[in-house]
Amino acid sequence: MRRIHCLNNISPLGTALLTEGYALSDEIEGADGALVRSASLHDVEFPKSLLAIARAGAGVNNIPLDRCAEEGIVVFNTPGANANAVKELVVCALMLGSRDIAGGIAWCRDNADDPNIAKAAEKAKKAFAGREVKGKKLGVIGLGAIGAEVANIAVELGMDVYGYDPYVSVGAAWRLSSAVHRVTNLDDIFRTCDYMSIHVPAMEGTIGMIDGRACSLMKDGAVFLNFSRDTLVDDEAMAAALASGKVHAYITDFANPAVMKMKGAVVLPHLGASTAEAEDNCAMTAVRELMDYLENGNILNSVNYPACDMGPVPEGLRRVAVLHANVPNAIARITNVFGDAGVNIENMTNKARGDNAYTLLDLDADAPGHPDDAIGRLEAIEGVRRARVVK
Ligand SMILES: NC(=O)c1ccc[n+]([C@@H]2O[C@H](COP(=O)([O-])OP(=O)(O)OC[C@H]3O[C@@H](n4cnc5c(N)ncnc54)[C@H](O)[C@@H]3O)[C@@H](O)[C@H]2O)c1
Repeated sequence: MRRIHCLNNISPLGTALLTEGYALSDEIEGADGALVRSASLHDVEFPKSLLAIARAGAGVNNIPLDRCAEEGIVVFNTPGANANAVKELVVCALMLGSRDIAGGIAWCRDNADDPNIAKAAEKAKKAFAGREVKGKKLGVIGLGAIGAEVANIAVELGMDVYGYDPYVSVGAAWRLSSAVHRVTNLDDIFRTCDYMSIHVPAMEGTIGMIDGRACSLMKDGAVFLNFSRDTLVDDEAMAAALASGKVHAYITDFANPAVMKMKGAVVLPHLGASTAEAEDNCAMTAVRELMDYLENGNILNSVNYPACDMGPVPEGLRRVAVLHANVPNAIARITNVFGDAGVNIENMTNKARGDNAYTLLDLDADAPGHPDDAIGRLEAIEGVRRARVVK
């Protein structure tokens, strides 16, 4: 029986995926895997039994990734599991940037006690008139899990969609509608689009990328949507662009004192992924990743070890997994253990990521000895963090 310890309340749709070979455990001691949302693990001592931690969500700053790597614990997260939730709010933001919905709601609230509000509304409404998104140009910056979904739904809304992502993954490119025009120069997005939506991570090279120069290139009356991170946009430059009318509206999911003072900004309190369905999706993805690793040794969406997928363990084969340092000669030493024992390696994959590497081997099940016998010899190799017989 494999034991899974939950450090936070995890959506029951996630834990319901655990099959009969699994049991939830109240203790981390003796657990094979752990599921976590935001609980801090920095001061938690991990038992030797713990093979993996899956974070239901994207951010992993509550988990000591390097210590986990050293201790042979694979850490997973669930990128993209909240993409639909963010996409739906971006659709709302397109409307918030096109029609003065926020102003209209405020007017109704302000006039709540007017017995003639219905008549007054007919007069007042022209102040909140807007435009439609159909037929307008939308530029999507970053075509990952969220950006690709935004681009596709905008096509469905009848928009003319332009996508910019010099590092787009093959998977994301496959998901993208063929109606999305590929842009190779970011300035073309600024120059030609009526609406822009940014979906890139905040990192060196993207922080502050929407600066004064970018704003100056934009079409007069452009609408900019930011559901990615506040640091991507230079607040001072955006405030100036809004004040001059260059940018008509800035819809952001990130409240800070600077945006709260901007006229023309519609600010939300980081609601992008705040849906019950996103929580469910994150939990289900985390549980699937954990089970695939425990049962097959496959790694998908790890943040400290490389991705590695050999599918389910084939009939008639045994699978051994080795987590190790990414150092010269490691693969030769690992394979020698089996060569010396006269065991044939049928399939093998080795992947590295930074300082960490992973070797997955399928062995002839009829070979002499049991793979368990090899574990001690594998773990004695310098740099090997953990070796286990998966099946
Ligand atoms: N508002 C919210 O609640 C919320 C929720 C989830 C994620 N997010 C934010 O959304 C961002 C995107 O999430 P995702 O799941 O789509 O991530 P992702 O990793 O799937 O996609 C990011 C994309 O950005 C691209 N990219 C990187 N640098 C770029 C650059 N300089 N120019 C153009 N493209 C570039 C990458 O190639 C990748 O395709 C996250 O980094 C996060 O900050 C916000």
